[in-house]
Amino acid sequence: MMMLLITSIAYGASVVSSKHDMRSFVDDEDTDQVCVFCHTPHQTASANAQYPLWNKQVSTNTFGVYSSPTLDADMTNAEIGGKAAGAQSVSALCMGCHDGSVAVNQLYRLPSDGTPGTPKTVPSYYSLDKKLSDDHPINFTYDVRLASTDGALVSPYSSSRVDNVTPYLPLFSGTLQCATCHNVHDPQYGAFLRSSVSGSQLCFRCHIK
Ligand code: HEC
Ligand code: HEC
Ligand code: HEC
Ligand code: HEC
Repeated sequence: MMMLLITSIAYGASVVSSKHDMRSFVDDEDTDQVCVFCHTPHQTASANAQYPLWNKQVSTNTFGVYSSPTLDADMTNAEIGGKAAGAQSVSALCMGCHDGSVAVNQLYRLPSDGTPGTPKTVPSYYSLDKKLSDDHPINFTYDVRLASTDGALVSPYSSSRVDNVTPYLPLFSGTLQCATCHNVHDPQYGAFLRSSVSGSQLCFRCHIK
C-alpha cells in the first residue's frame, strides 16, 4: 500500500500508472515494461522505420475525412488510413489502437522480460471506430493563410506550434494531428489533453468564438 502511494506521487503526470500504462492489459507474470507497447529501442524491419521508434502494429483501415460547408482547410490529403507502417502520420499511430481493430498488445518487437499478453482491443468507450469523418478534423495544414481565410482562428505562432503558451499545442510538420490536442504521456488535464477543458479553454487556444 505504502509502495503504491509513493509510486503515484513520484510519477504524478507520467504515462506510468496512466490509462496508457498497458501493463494492466497483461497477465501478472508477463512484461513489466510501459513504453514497449508503443516504442522500442531497436525496431524490427517489419515496423519499417515508423517514427518515433514505433513498436505497435498499425491499422490499414481507411477512415475518411471530416467535411462541411464551412470548412476552409484543404483536406485533399488528410486521409490517414490505408497506408503501411513507415508511411503513416502521427494520428495513424493513435488509430492503431483507437479504431478498435488491432489489439493494443499486438507488437512488432516483443519485450525481453515476458510476453505482451493475450490480444485485447481498446474498450469500446475509447474506440473512435473505423471512421474519422465524424471527428474534429485532423491531418491538414494549419497555417497563417488558413487562419486568415477562416477569420476566426488563432494564427499559428510558428510551423511547429499553435501558440507560445506552455504547454504548447504542437503542430507536426505544420499539420494539426491528434497529438496537437493530446499528449499521450501526460494525464494531468484528464483525457491526455494538453490543456484544461474547463470553460472550454482548449478550444479557445485556436478558435476565436
Ligand atoms: C500509448 C502509446 C505510447 C506510450 C505507452 C509511450 N509513448 Fe512515447 N510517443 C507516443 C506517440 C504517439 C508519440 C508521438 C506524438 C508526440 O510526440 O506527442 C510519442 C513520442 C515520444 C517521443 C518523441 C517526442 C517527444 O516528446 O520527445 C519520445 C522521446 C517518447 N515518446 C518516449 C516515450 C517513453 C520513454 C515512454 C515510456 C516511459 C513512452 N514514450 C510511452 C506514444 C506512446
Ligand atoms: C498501444 C495502444 C494505444 C495507442 C498507440 C494509443 N492509445 Fe490511447 N488508449 C489506449 C488504451 C488501451 C486506452 C484505455 C485504457 C483503459 O481502458 O483504461 C487509451 C485511452 C486513451 C484516452 C482516454 C484517456 C482518459 O483518461 O479518458 C485518450 C484521450 C487517448 N487514449 C488518446 C490517444 C491518442 C491521441 C493517441 C495517439 C497520439 C493514443 N491514444 C495512442 C491505447 C492506446
Ligand atoms: C481539437 C482537439 C482534439 C483533437 C484534434 C483530437 N481530440 Fe481526442 N479529445 C479531445 C477532447 C477535448 C476530449 C475530451 C472530451 C470531453 O472531455 O468531453 C477528447 C477525448 C478523446 C478520447 C476519450 C474518449 C472520448 O470520446 O471522450 C479519445 C480516445 C480520443 N480523444 C482520441 C483521439 C484521437 C485518436 C484523435 C485523432 C484521430 C483525437 N482524439 C483528436 C480533443 C481532441
Ligand atoms: C489546435 C487548434 C484547435 C483546437 C485546440 C481546436 N480546434 Fe477546432 N478546428 C481547428 C482548425 C484549424 C479547424 C479547421 C477550420 C476550417 O478549416 O474552417 C477546426 C475545425 C473545427 C470545427 C469544424 C468547423 C467547420 O467549419 O465545419 C469545429 C466545430 C471545431 N473545430 C470545434 C472545436 C471545439 C469544440 C474545440 C474544443 C473541444 C476545438 N475545435 C479545438 C483548430 C482547433
